[in-house]
Amino acid sequence: MLNARLSTSEIAAWLRETDAERLQTLWDKADQIRRERVGDAVWLRGLIEISNRCSRNCLYCGVRAERRVERYRMPQNEILDCANFAKKNGLATLVLQAGEDRTLDAGFVAETVQAIRDDFGLTVTLSLGERTDSELVRWQEAGASRYLARFETSNPALYRALHPSVDGGGFTERIDFLKRLRQIGYEVGSGVMIGIPGQTFDDLARDLALFRELDLDMIGSGPFLPHPETPLGNLEISGAYWQTTRSSEDSPKDAASRFSFRYPTTDDQVPNANDLAFKVVALARVLCPDANIPSVTSVATLDGRDGRKSALSRGANVVMPNITPTKYRRLYEIYPNKAATFEDAETTLQTTLRQLDEIGRFQGIGPGSAPNFLARSSASR
Ligand code: 5AD
Repeated sequence: MLNARLSTSEIAAWLRETDAERLQTLWDKADQIRRERVGDAVWLRGLIEISNRCSRNCLYCGVRAERRVERYRMPQNEILDCANFAKKNGLATLVLQAGEDRTLDAGFVAETVQAIRDDFGLTVTLSLGERTDSELVRWQEAGASRYLARFETSNPALYRALHPSVDGGGFTERIDFLKRLRQIGYEVGSGVMIGIPGQTFDDLARDLALFRELDLDMIGSGPFLPHPETPLGNLEISGAYWQTTRSSEDSPKDAASRFSFRYPTTDDQVPNANDLAFKVVALARVLCPDANIPSVTSVATLDGRDGRKSALSRGANVVMPNITPTKYRRLYEIYPNKAATFEDAETTLQTTLRQLDEIGRFQGIGPGSAPNFLARSSASR
């Protein structure tokens, strides 16, 4: 029984499944639903990492405020150069992503979005963290139509442990933020990390059920990859679970006071591995058949040769090739060895296109909104 009505415990059972033959039925089902609902075209979104400044201190993230790293913010002319590259190469959508930079000026974003729309006619997706309603409306009026904000985990206690509080900034605020985006009329994307320390199989099953409950248009999830210069970076992976040992360089402030939840030290801990990421992609496709689902960078980071292609063959229909200027890429190091860090946009795009070709898929032409979003917006008209 594999359909959109799977219960949370059935989802959890699939996440724990190890039998190769049974898993093949999951991959086949997800691939079939993908073909029927969103077709063989793969939507390419040009990803621009416009700023690595961040006001938050998420325990897992390499651009967290407390980490010492050279900070940058791309000037508008450089962003527009990327738009020009996208336009020339048939990338109809740009994703502007940044840390949650409270000082990133709303007017700057609005003007940039408007220039991208007016001068290049591209669809704009924003991924700039939690912002006020008036900013969201302003950016929408300037031409942005999609917004991405992962909720990271559906377990409120785990969310709290991973995200030291700023004003607000809790799990409830994140879910409310996704609902505000929806209300304002954005096409809404979210997702989680897979194998974050403290995440159990039941947690991950509830994450998937929440994708369905939120009726997401876009669902991007990938394995957690420890960054050595973060509080979660020194935990050692041991088999299928995480040890709580830390190296001596760990700052005591981060280690002791903030990271107070206990890890499950048994096979309850989700491993941060691609086989789990593929299960999440496939189950997301089964549960949310009309969503756009990317094959994400962290999957490609763990397996540069086959990662992207495997996710595309197990439910995914979107790739977000990085088109950030090479000089900035090494600074947007949310985790180490991120795929394509030392390439230019041309190379990254060519690699993506070759991989599509290898699995008999092709670049979609046009904005490529999720059928889920199109059905909702035509119903409300
Ligand atoms: N490993 C994997 N994914 C990460 N992200 C942030 N840090 C890491 C990490 N160390 C993800 C988060 C965030 C997205 C932009 O990148 O899910 O929402």
